[in-house]
Amino acid sequence: MKLTLVSFLLCYYYFIYITHASPDSVVLEDQQNFVCLEDQQSLLLQFKNNLTFEPVISRQLDWNNSTDCCDWGGVICDYEGHVIVLNLFNQELISGGFNNSSSLFSLQHLQTLVLSYINFNSSFPSGFTKLEKLTYLDLSHCHFYGTLSNSISNLTDLTYLDLSENDLSGAIPSSLFTLPSLEQIYLENNQFSKPINVEPSSIPKLNTLNLASCNLKNFPSFLINLSTLSSIDLSNNQIQGVLPNWIWKLQSLYKLNISHNLLTELEGPLTNLTSNYIYSVDIHHNQLQGSLPAFFDSAVYLDYSMNKFTSIIPQNIGIYLSSTSFISLSHNNLHGSIPNSLCNASHNVLDLSFNNFSGSIPSCLMTMTETLRVLNLRRNKLQGQIPNKFSAFCALQTLDLNGNLLHGSVPKSLAHCSKLEVLDIGTNQIVGRFPCFLQHIPTLSVLVLRNNKFHGTLRCSKAKNPWKMIQILDIAFNNFSGKLPEKYFRTLKKMKGEDDNVEPRIIGFAINGVYYQDSVTLMIKGQKMELVKILTIFTTIDLSSNHFEGQIPEDLMDLKALIVLNLSNNAFSNEIPSTIGNLKQLESLDLSNNHLVGKIPMQLASLSFLSYLNLSFNHLVGKIPTGTQLQSFQASSFEGNYGLYGPPLTEIPNGTRLDKPHPQPTCGRLAGSIDWNFLSVELGFVFGLGIIIGPIMFWKQWRVRYWKLVDKILCWMFSRMYLEYATDRGQTYTVLRWG
Ligand SMILES: *[C@@H]1O[C@H](CO)[C@@H](O)[C@H](O)[C@H]1NC(C)=O
Ligand SMILES: *[C@@H]1O[C@H](CO)[C@@H](O)[C@H](O)[C@H]1NC(C)=O
Ligand SMILES: *[C@@H]1O[C@H](CO)[C@@H](O)[C@H](O)[C@H]1NC(C)=O
Ligand SMILES: *[C@@H]1O[C@H](CO)[C@@H](O)[C@H](O)[C@H]1NC(C)=O
Ligand SMILES: *[C@@H]1O[C@H](CO)[C@@H](O)[C@H](O)[C@H]1NC(C)=O
Ligand SMILES: *[C@@H]1O[C@H](CO)[C@@H](O)[C@H](O)[C@H]1NC(C)=O
Ligand SMILES: *[C@@H]1O[C@H](CO)[C@@H](O)[C@H](O)[C@H]1NC(C)=O
Ligand SMILES: *[C@@H]1O[C@H](CO)[C@@H](O)[C@H](O)[C@H]1NC(C)=O
Ligand SMILES: *[C@@H]1O[C@H](CO)[C@@H](O)[C@H](O)[C@H]1NC(C)=O
Ligand SMILES: *[C@@H]1O[C@H](CO)[C@@H](O)[C@H](O)[C@H]1NC(C)=O
Ligand SMILES: *[C@@H]1O[C@H](CO)[C@@H](O)[C@H](O)[C@H]1NC(C)=O
Ligand SMILES: *[C@@H]1O[C@H](CO)[C@@H](O)[C@H](O)[C@H]1NC(C)=O
Repeated sequence: MKLTLVSFLLCYYYFIYITHASPDSVVLEDQQNFVCLEDQQSLLLQFKNNLTFEPVISRQLDWNNSTDCCDWGGVICDYEGHVIVLNLFNQELISGGFNNSSSLFSLQHLQTLVLSYINFNSSFPSGFTKLEKLTYLDLSHCHFYGTLSNSISNLTDLTYLDLSENDLSGAIPSSLFTLPSLEQIYLENNQFSKPINVEPSSIPKLNTLNLASCNLKNFPSFLINLSTLSSIDLSNNQIQGVLPNWIWKLQSLYKLNISHNLLTELEGPLTNLTSNYIYSVDIHHNQLQGSLPAFFDSAVYLDYSMNKFTSIIPQNIGIYLSSTSFISLSHNNLHGSIPNSLCNASHNVLDLSFNNFSGSIPSCLMTMTETLRVLNLRRNKLQGQIPNKFSAFCALQTLDLNGNLLHGSVPKSLAHCSKLEVLDIGTNQIVGRFPCFLQHIPTLSVLVLRNNKFHGTLRCSKAKNPWKMIQILDIAFNNFSGKLPEKYFRTLKKMKGEDDNVEPRIIGFAINGVYYQDSVTLMIKGQKMELVKILTIFTTIDLSSNHFEGQIPEDLMDLKALIVLNLSNNAFSNEIPSTIGNLKQLESLDLSNNHLVGKIPMQLASLSFLSYLNLSFNHLVGKIPTGTQLQSFQASSFEGNYGLYGPPLTEIPNGTRLDKPHPQPTCGRLAGSIDWNFLSVELGFVFGLGIIIGPIMFWKQWRVRYWKLVDKILCWMFSRMYLEYATDRGQTYTVLRWG
């Protein structure tokens, strides 16, 4: 939960950062000699008086009476001393009052007004029509609510209008689309509940239209006559049905984003679409069916992912993709083989994940890694080996082949990929020893070998700074064995929190203004989770379900930045190191199903972020440290441990599974009752003990007392015998075992 929130916030700020750079037409130079008119100065001061500045703001508006207003920050005057530019961009710590009678509306010479990120928290004022000379108006992120009605009409010179990211509701007024000079409109992310009323007919110069998240239900048909339109963003609406064919024929169309809608069909014919200049097509996350639409030989960015396309990829696809640098067909139902012709372009990102592709991986995909940065073939039905053909100048950052039917070993030429950040080949049938040669890749952050057939130890030859950047190491469900090498974890700088690069970021990179994010599926807190964004501060080690043995290394406890540690289902023995208290960031710890002995170290209770703990089915003893957060975990976190007691378990030692012998037999413990059937079977062949003590057994008090004696005798007689508590159908028994 915490993680999702953090990653969301980071993503959010990043998004704001990349999408809203300062408009370059607005100059903040105040090197000018014009003298401010007195009324202009006083109007600005009145406006300022209505603003509230947060105390933490470092650069307050430097507006005061003792200087000329033409020299004030964010203000530019014309030669007569009229204010023509007011730009308060990036002053997000200001809030303020702004209504119909604001003094701003008297600054009648204003041409550029930028008040974005000021929290006005008021209904949208109607005075803008008075600012007849406005050409550039940016009121994005201002917390305006209410309707627009005709508040922005008659502005015949307006070329740029940005009202995005407010809470405006009602209908989008058609008057907006009659402004004759308008070139760019941004209305995305408001609460508009009705479509544009009266459809507008002509906006002769409009080139950019952003109506993302505007609750549109139908495809706006008036676009058909907008021959100047080059960028259309209708994403995140509820547009249903058919995407009209004429959209592709708009003369100037360059960029189309209709992702996140409910479209089911692309109107045909979809041939001969290769003649215009379309650059970016984003139709992802709709319900489009049938065969893949024609490709556009000019397109650089194609995102067809998350639809219901069911066809094969045409063998000659390569000729249509000569310019494409980003192509995603992921999350569809595409089948057949991956055509070789895909290699004929110089892609940066090729994402075919979550389809039904079969056959083998074309080796030319590995050869083309000089340009390829992301190759994602996750969750298909690909067979054969991973071609050992990685280019000597491999630039790959992400290789994701998880969830296929691949066999063979990890190709050695992968070592050429010195920029590799994410390697996920989990859930295949890959064999071999631990790929030590990857320890030299300085950027490798995510290594997932989970659920394959790897074997042997983790021991690698000495290297300089091996695994320096590793933050996710998941090698669970393999046949790895042996002790964890000493000093092995010492070099994991990232996990030790010694990485210099402290600013957390999301693994991936920006391409065409869109951030490509890597994702990975992990077991966290006992559940399968898909991390759709991998924050560079997220760290996990999962060695579970292998055959590791020996002590849990002390070095592991130096990984102060570790968040998830899973060593379950191995044969780790000895005690839990008390230095576990160093892992202050730990949120999830699973040591279940090992041979750990001794007490639970007090230090475990000091891990304040720990929200998942599983120590079950070990040989831990003693009282669970009380008065700590350890009591907040379920009893199942501790079950199956001989002699572990105290809340959340019962106050007295409870018992253990029958099939798990205790390694340090203790003689002479008090037993509540005895499983005589079981005991006689186990002892029967040694001697007829049952017969000797038989009659006494039915007299309860004697039974208990007498058994203590028998218990002692047996222990004395057979040093290799020991008693064990067992629970069956709610009853606790003592069982004699030898071993
Ligand atoms: C006005 O601005 C000048 C220069 O920025 C500053 O020295 C002066 O203290 C300010 N006066 C007031 C009243 O804020
Ligand atoms: C600024 O100066 C003008 C006269 O120069 C005066 O009328 C006005 O009250 C002053 N405003 C403030 C806020 O001091
Ligand atoms: C802001 O200032 C003007 C002029 O001083 C005033 O008329 C108005 O009521 C103030 N409040 C708002 C919310 O604009
Ligand atoms: C602003 O003025 C318009 C009409 O000019 C009116 O409809 C609207 O209610 C006024 N807004 C406020 C907050 O008074
Ligand atoms: C604007 O807000 C001020 C308070 O700041 C108030 O006195 C004035 O009446 C409001 N004007 C309108 C037209 O709502
Ligand atoms: C807007 O004002 C209302 C009432 O004063 C307040 O509850 C709300 O939190 C404010 N919203 C923002 C975004 O400041
Ligand atoms: C806008 O223009 C129309 C006609 O051109 C005129 O009737 C109306 O008064 C104007 N509105 C404003 C606020 O200037
Ligand atoms: C597009 O323009 C043609 C002729 O200019 C006109 O007949 C048609 O109604 C217009 N379509 C829309 C949707 O405005
Ligand atoms: C299209 O819009 C969606 C949602 O608004 C956004 O996430 C995506 O990055 C956009 N695509 C492009 C290519 O800009
Ligand atoms: C496609 O365009 C070619 C010429 O560019 C033309 O000969 C052919 O008839 C067109 N096909 C369709 C289906 O429009
Ligand atoms: C790839 O391009 C080469 C020449 O650039 C050409 O000979 C080959 O036929 C093309 N392959 C495919 C599958 O289009
Ligand atoms: C302890 O025994 C009681 C009944 O005797 C049982 O209900 C409970 O589940 C046992 N607890 C554990 C952790 O085995």
